Amino acid sequence: MRRIMLLAIFLLINGLIIAGEGMWLPLLLSQLNEKEMHDMGMRISADDIYSVNHSSLKDAVVLFGGGCTAEIVSEQGLLLTNHHCGYSNIQRHSSLQNDYLGEGFWAQSFSEELPNPGLSVTFLISMQDVTNQALTGITAQLTESQRESIIKKNSETLISAAINGTHYKASVKPFYGGNQYYLFVTETFTDIRLVGAPPSDIGKFGGDTDNWMWPRHTGDFSVFRIYAGKDNQPADYSTENVPFHPKMKFTISLKGVQEGDFTFVYGFPGTTQEYLPSVSVNLNANIHNPIAIELRQKRLDIINKGMNEDKLTRLQYSAKAATIANYWKKMIGETRGIRTLDGIEKKKLFEQQFTKWINSDPVRKTLYGSLLPVYANACRLFQPYYEAYTYLTEGALGIELIRYSYGFNALVMQCRDKAVTDEEISKTAQKLLSGAEGYFKNYNSTIDARNFVSLMSIYGSKCRQDLLPDIFTTFRSEYNNDYKLWASDVYEKSFFSQLDRVIRLMKNFKRKDYRKIEKDPAFKVATSVYSYLQNQLSPRLTEFYSRTDSLQRIYMASQMEMQPFKRFYPDANLTLRVSYGNIKGYSPADAIDYKWYTTLSGIMEKENPDIYDYSVKPKLKELYQKKDYGKYADADGEMHVAFIASNHTTGGNSGSPVLDADGHLIGINFDRCWEGTMSDLLYDKDQCRNISLDIRYCLFIIDKFAGASRLIDEMSIVGK
Ligand code: ARG
Ligand code: GLU
Repeated sequence: MRRIMLLAIFLLINGLIIAGEGMWLPLLLSQLNEKEMHDMGMRISADDIYSVNHSSLKDAVVLFGGGCTAEIVSEQGLLLTNHHCGYSNIQRHSSLQNDYLGEGFWAQSFSEELPNPGLSVTFLISMQDVTNQALTGITAQLTESQRESIIKKNSETLISAAINGTHYKASVKPFYGGNQYYLFVTETFTDIRLVGAPPSDIGKFGGDTDNWMWPRHTGDFSVFRIYAGKDNQPADYSTENVPFHPKMKFTISLKGVQEGDFTFVYGFPGTTQEYLPSVSVNLNANIHNPIAIELRQKRLDIINKGMNEDKLTRLQYSAKAATIANYWKKMIGETRGIRTLDGIEKKKLFEQQFTKWINSDPVRKTLYGSLLPVYANACRLFQPYYEAYTYLTEGALGIELIRYSYGFNALVMQCRDKAVTDEEISKTAQKLLSGAEGYFKNYNSTIDARNFVSLMSIYGSKCRQDLLPDIFTTFRSEYNNDYKLWASDVYEKSFFSQLDRVIRLMKNFKRKDYRKIEKDPAFKVATSVYSYLQNQLSPRLTEFYSRTDSLQRIYMASQMEMQPFKRFYPDANLTLRVSYGNIKGYSPADAIDYKWYTTLSGIMEKENPDIYDYSVKPKLKELYQKKDYGKYADADGEMHVAFIASNHTTGGNSGSPVLDADGHLIGINFDRCWEGTMSDLLYDKDQCRNISLDIRYCLFIIDKFAGASRLIDEMSIVGK
């Protein structure tokens, strides 16, 4: 009775798993989720979503590059993903003559589709629970590193058995904090070609201002194609390759959705940490984030000012600024979300219940009684090092000159090592020389020097003084605490702040020239910073993470033991997952209610020819004025652009297929609403929303705007 009462209390505190939270393993859907998904309106079966016995929707979802998702939409291997996922490849093909970023790109035939060396897509062939095999030989007495090496060995055995005689790859990954292990067998294709991309003022409409925000009007998609050998097997790029014939493709639905409708997202979410104790959440949200936010803010202020003053600087720095700004904004949202949600207090409340549960059983008390206090103590001891680490990585390493100079360290090491031949040395020097042009093409030393002053002065004054690299002592005595003087001296004298100097140094580089590098003022700063990181801070981090990894494993297992009736989903780890929820608006603040979709009218409202991110192409305006939406209009006559739903997603889910109750493609996931970005640490059904591009807007752009009807003809589209 007591147990049931306690359980009831826990369920009240934690809430039952609500529609939306969770990134579920496709393999376990039939066991854990299928009934609920049906209750929510799904009309297909778990087996349609994932099966190893016959083709299923999983065969149409791929990991795109290293950190996005894409989906197959034709029998000829046509792929849809986000514009921001294809961005670097689109950029690589762009030049002033062929401005594909600015004007868009549409291959008119297979032969015009552009290869992308280095880009690959990966299919999941199968997954399997291998916990018992992976943990064979593991005992409670082992140290964390002994444990790791046994698991590694076991995994290697499992992997070689799994791929034996095939061209597949495999990996074994930990789940639930290392309490379970799964084996993944995958197949990778490396000939991936660019088929189409809208112009940036569609694909990136709203830029960084609208990033992470709702209401959103970004046409964030691009089109690629998988090529294979004549035998339909993976093959490196060759003109002989042919479009790949997939086992499965998504059917696209033009029916549209309504608020409340069931929807699911199938993709590769990267990282979440949902089961941490309050002390760890505090470290993330209240210690790390504020420092990183402040330092990134300074960098962005300086870079943005430079970009506004000068066109070339805009070209050089817009991609860099976007990268800095993306997680800058995410961290602000996350920390704010944890606060408005009372996240730390919620976790503490749960920990009180947890402690009661531990103490209610003498065996448990002996085993786990000290778990949370020990965890808290580890976090307390780690905090100053974590702060110092954040100042170093977001501050000193936010300075391009420091990162770039350190790139020459390997050359210095080689020169000092008698075993390394002169030939090898000149090879390294040659490599550095040939990379220099590309680096300096996107470098502005005035901006970087301003960053140096700003970031180093914050680092030097706010970081705990006994946790600073030596170079600060030198700086204080030599430059009398004057950061401007320091910066001007470094940038004036260093080889690494100017292309011609690097060329001069690297051309005909001789072994003995390494002394010139060693004496370089920027190189001195860089080696001091990096060696402090490697020798002082990294060991602390490793120690902390290995300590808390083992604590978290026990904490995770006991949370599961304490709540035997709760369905637990494993944290994201870039493996294939299903999230499901409902199409739904939300209320971000008092008196504001957000609708669940946006339309082309909103693009016209936001249009501003004076602001780069808000310009609209005449062709799009014309289509809007004529309301020439064809079969892509919603039943309400409007062109719907994006919609939101309560699916639990994170970075990596970009480009994921968003599906309706029939498993038909209705959207492409591309972002999350800002107020809900704490969902990597704590999901909230009222605030957490994923943002999807309406597939009808995507097809409208391909068809009506770009006239690339040959692509539409390849797709299977079900109408209204
Ligand atoms: N916030 C989205 C995602 O993490 C999109 C990022 C790209 N867009 C941008 N404006 N920076 O990652
Ligand atoms: N834009 C993100 C990505 O690139 C997805 C947004 C999120 O973090 O949910 O994966």
